[in-house]
Amino acid sequence: MTKYRFPEGFLWGGAIAAHQAEGGYLENGKGLTTVDLMPIGPKRWNILLGNLSSFKPEEGEFYPSHEAIDFYHRYKEDISLFAEMGFKALRLSISWARIFPNGDDKQPNEAGLQFYDDIFDELLKHDIQPVVTMAHFDVPIHLVEKYGSWKNRKLIELFETYSITLFNRYKDKVKYWMTFNEINMLLHMPFVGAGLVFQEGDNKIQIQYQAAHHQLVASALAVKACHEIIPEAKIGCMLAGGATYPYTCHPDDIQKAMDKDRESFLLIDVQSRGEYPGFVNRFLKENNLTIEMEVGDKELLKNHTVDYIGFSYYGSRAASTDPEILKQITSGNVFASVENPYLENSEWGWPIDAKGFRITCNQLYDRYQKPLFVVENGLGAMDIVTSEGKVQDDYRIDYLKKHLTEMGEAIQDGVEILGYTSWGPIDIISNTTGEMKKRYGYIYVDKDNAGNGTLKRIKKKSFDWYKNVIATNGEVL
Ligand code: BG6
Repeated sequence: MTKYRFPEGFLWGGAIAAHQAEGGYLENGKGLTTVDLMPIGPKRWNILLGNLSSFKPEEGEFYPSHEAIDFYHRYKEDISLFAEMGFKALRLSISWARIFPNGDDKQPNEAGLQFYDDIFDELLKHDIQPVVTMAHFDVPIHLVEKYGSWKNRKLIELFETYSITLFNRYKDKVKYWMTFNEINMLLHMPFVGAGLVFQEGDNKIQIQYQAAHHQLVASALAVKACHEIIPEAKIGCMLAGGATYPYTCHPDDIQKAMDKDRESFLLIDVQSRGEYPGFVNRFLKENNLTIEMEVGDKELLKNHTVDYIGFSYYGSRAASTDPEILKQITSGNVFASVENPYLENSEWGWPIDAKGFRITCNQLYDRYQKPLFVVENGLGAMDIVTSEGKVQDDYRIDYLKKHLTEMGEAIQDGVEILGYTSWGPIDIISNTTGEMKKRYGYIYVDKDNAGNGTLKRIKKKSFDWYKNVIATNGEVL
């Protein structure tokens, strides 16, 4: 039992992304996207970083997103399971290439628009609010080939057309929006975050910061359009979150931890406060970088800030200046960080830190003074189906229980939180590794890393647990 209930109307639910769930590869006019070119296996990591050799899927490689968990055809069954758990919200993303197959088409693809209409209708039928991410790591590949993706300013105008199309079409159905998933990801995984592909000799950081500026302007234009077309809607930014701790109280470690956090905050500082923070000038100067802006950019950024701060939280990070400590690096969702000796790691080496969740919530709220929306959190683990066909995922329940307790504490600290959508409420494919066996769900999907399996859905032990959390509005965890 917790000592309190969560706020009335708290949006409990789950979160998925188009390319990790849908499948329906190239169906009904969908165009090829960046994520369709990410195979499972040794080549994947290199591609995620922007080293892509072909703009087509290669013979002999297995691309998990092409079928994923076939949400494209099974969404009704899946949504009814979410409804059975009592979901109030489902966060999902729209695939840009279902709506504009090439990204720069003159007319949108009606079949793609209709697909999401059907999903939203199905959700609303069950009183589940759609929370929509407009870009969750998938850029139409034509835009990468023709324009170099987000390194080109042209993408701003194309994204604006895409966003206006979405707002006009779904204005009566979708009241919660987000522009770019984990916008800071493009500084770490440029192909994932922005479809950036590098050539020999490219000044990568320069390209990344310029691409980030283009996304920020595109995001501001989307916020503007959303506020004009759906005045009652809320639109947010989305950060790959997780506070950075100094490894020791040595001032150098404190400074480094602060710098690391600022690197994460930089882009949402712009989205939330409307201007680049002061520290960016020094960073640009010391790294010989320039961000080219056009007249009017600053005004757009200033006038069209987000309504809430969406973020993912998988764990905290740690920073040190000690060369010996720096040898102990952990993977932690892409953001390499020094190993924190006080924390345990998941099977994939991601630090598990429930208290860090409370700290991160407080840190973000103190900084932005805007409502937060926890749009990703969860434990990626290997589940085993017993001979009776059950999945006893007590470790997941334990992880979530501790995290929800800390989120409750953050609310008691005064942090305003709109909702909590845990990552992958049904097992989906992993973004970083492409694996199926890295599972987050309350619902097991019968499929393995090689793509074998019946795709049958099985309720795990955590299914009933989460159902009860929602039914009691977080009072019973
Ligand atoms: C976030 C992404 O970075 O982490 C998701 O927004 C991703 O797309 C999630 O799936 C978990 O990462 P992974 O690699 O375990 O799937």
